Amino acid sequence: MSFLTDCTRAWLTRSRKPFLFQNEYDRTLTFDTERGLGLYIHIPFCKSICNFCPYCKEIYDEKKANDYIDALLCEIRTVGGMAKGKREVTSLYFGGGTPALVADRIGEIVNTVKEYFVITEGIGLELHPDNVTVPTLKTLRAAGVTKISIGIQSFLEKYRRILGRSRADAAKLREALAAVPFETVSMDFIFALPEQTAEDLRRDIDTAIAVGANHVAIYPFIDFTFTGSKVRAMPKKEKRALLDAITRDCLARGMTRDSIWTFSTEKSARYSSMTRDNFLGFGCSATTLLRHQFKINTFSVREYCARIRAGELPTSLTLRFTERQRMIYYLFWTAYSTRVSEADFEAFFGVKLSKMYGMEMRLMKLLGFATERDGVWEMTAKGAFYYHYYENFYTLAYIDKMWGIMRQEAFPSEIRL
Ligand SMILES: C[S@@+](CC[C@H](N)C(=O)[O-])C[C@H]1O[C@@H](n2cnc3c(N)ncnc32)[C@H](O)[C@@H]1O
Ligand code: SF4
Repeated sequence: MSFLTDCTRAWLTRSRKPFLFQNEYDRTLTFDTERGLGLYIHIPFCKSICNFCPYCKEIYDEKKANDYIDALLCEIRTVGGMAKGKREVTSLYFGGGTPALVADRIGEIVNTVKEYFVITEGIGLELHPDNVTVPTLKTLRAAGVTKISIGIQSFLEKYRRILGRSRADAAKLREALAAVPFETVSMDFIFALPEQTAEDLRRDIDTAIAVGANHVAIYPFIDFTFTGSKVRAMPKKEKRALLDAITRDCLARGMTRDSIWTFSTEKSARYSSMTRDNFLGFGCSATTLLRHQFKINTFSVREYCARIRAGELPTSLTLRFTERQRMIYYLFWTAYSTRVSEADFEAFFGVKLSKMYGMEMRLMKLLGFATERDGVWEMTAKGAFYYHYYENFYTLAYIDKMWGIMRQEAFPSEIRL
């Protein structure tokens, strides 16, 4: 598996140099001139832990969560103060963990962010279905949240049991969502679970829309090696048939595909923290992507707070990109939106996409993975499946390895991918 990712990396970066993450970082981050900057804030607390979940999180404890948020506010002030004046950013997303558990402090965090940044495209936040109550939704709206994403996984008893999730009460969700409207109401589902059928997923999407979702994210189940999950991933052929069936079904409903895994019933409904040219991440495990570097904060809540108390950034590892590595990073995450614009690439890198990857683009067309119109490359259904297939390898070869180490060590000396 890593042989495939190693060969692809060497081919696309035209170098045998690995992605080298080292235990060092810049004390001052330069993001004044970065285009399309987004913000991400990680809240690593949950009421209970799901055994399939790879994210950085621990059991919620009120005191611990409050101390963490005090440290988070310091990190935002430190990094925000590094720009000259207020910096415009596209969006702010709160992910986790379960950020809605600290709904009472979201307004304070947003106000601190707004001392340094002007947010132009809204604020998104993740909730567990248990958090979808009128008081919590009202608190979030008053804090400025405009988009919410609810982790349903499945409305069907059989799959909820496989995943060990509690029941999401559709009637209660509908009532609360109708009382407190948001611009985007997204619901997360997991597919490619054992014996799952296209009809099961269709029923889940029907229920999501009926209770008030205008956006759905349908993620393939990923069996991370360091989680305690006993669920086995579905074989490739079945998974492809399922992905094709869900895609056809969502498009037949008139939904718009806005990324590999997401579909919306309204054009204005968007929920994605991933497809940004550059972003700043705050909190444990949060990543920051800038023109020449990628950095990742420590996964340890205790070490995160200790670093902040010492007046230091909580960075654990930094990757300094070669130009080709940065291009591959850009293309991989831009392709996640299923579209790559030649003009945007050239504006970002100052060089034509065809000059850097002309042969690969011709190959993509030839294999039927993408089509091109007026300088915009659009992924076909076949391309989307192979992107998904490759992403699965990438996730297991790179993310699984990195997160597996970072869960054990707050500040590893280096990681080579
Ligand atoms: C941070 S959680 C969402 C909010 C909240 N904590 C919850 O679980 O309802 C993010 C989403 O990641 C997805 N996810 C978690 N583990 C996964 C796995 N092993 N494979 C695929 N998707 C996964 C789930 O759909 C989940 O809703
Ligand atoms: S899936 Fe959500 S609730 Fe479950 S452990 Fe992960 S972040 Fe927490």
